[in-house]
Amino acid sequence: MHNKELKLGLEKILEGNNCWMDLVKNDKTGRFQQLAKGQNPEILWIGCADSRVPANELTGTKPGEVFVHRNIANICVHSDMSMLSVLDYAVNVLKVKHIIVAGHYGCGGVTAALSRQQYGIIDNWLCHIKDVYRLHAKEIDAIESMEAKTDKLVELNVREQVFNLCTTSIVQNAWKIDQPLAIHGMVINISTGQLIDLNNTFISNESLGKVFAFK
Ligand code: CO
Repeated sequence: MHNKELKLGLEKILEGNNCWMDLVKNDKTGRFQQLAKGQNPEILWIGCADSRVPANELTGTKPGEVFVHRNIANICVHSDMSMLSVLDYAVNVLKVKHIIVAGHYGCGGVTAALSRQQYGIIDNWLCHIKDVYRLHAKEIDAIESMEAKTDKLVELNVREQVFNLCTTSIVQNAWKIDQPLAIHGMVINISTGQLIDLNNTFISNESLGKVFAFK
C-alpha cells in the first residue's frame, strides 16, 4: 500500500515532465537550445522554501530569467555559505541587476518563531526571526490578533534580510565599483497572488550606518 502510494506520486511527476518535454519539443523560438548553452538572468530571487510561493509562476517569468535561492522564511544571514555562494555567483558572475527578498504572509517559519513551541533543529534557524522580533517587540506586542502579528513580522523580517544582504562584503564591493545593483523587499499574498513591493529598495551605501559601508 505504502509503496503503491509512493509510486503514484512519482508517476505524477514524470507525467508532468512528459508535458514539459512536449512543450520544449514544440517550441519554435529556439529559446531552449539557447538556454542549454547558458543563463543570463537579471534577477536573483531569495524566497521562502514554502511550496506555495514558486518564483517563476508568481512573476510570470520563464526559465532562464530568475536565479533562485530559497530557504525557510527567506533568511539571509552572513554565515550561511549556501546563501553567500548564491549571492556571490549572482552578483559577480551573472551580474544580476536586481535582488528580491520575497517573504509571504502566513509564513509557517515566522508563525513558529512567534510561538514557544519546539520543532527541532529548525528552532535554531528560526532564532534569526526571533532576533527580528526582539528589535520590534513593542510594535508587534501591541498588535492583538496572532495573524496580524505574524504578518507584521513577515514584513519586518523581509526588511531585516534586505539590510543583511546590503551589508555583505559581496554587495558592498559591487556598490564600491558602481555596479548597478538594487535590492528590494517584497511580500506575497498567497490568497490574492499579489507581490507587494515594500518600497524598501537599496541601491547604494548611502542610507546604511557608517560601520556597514566598507572603504
Ligand atoms: Co514561509
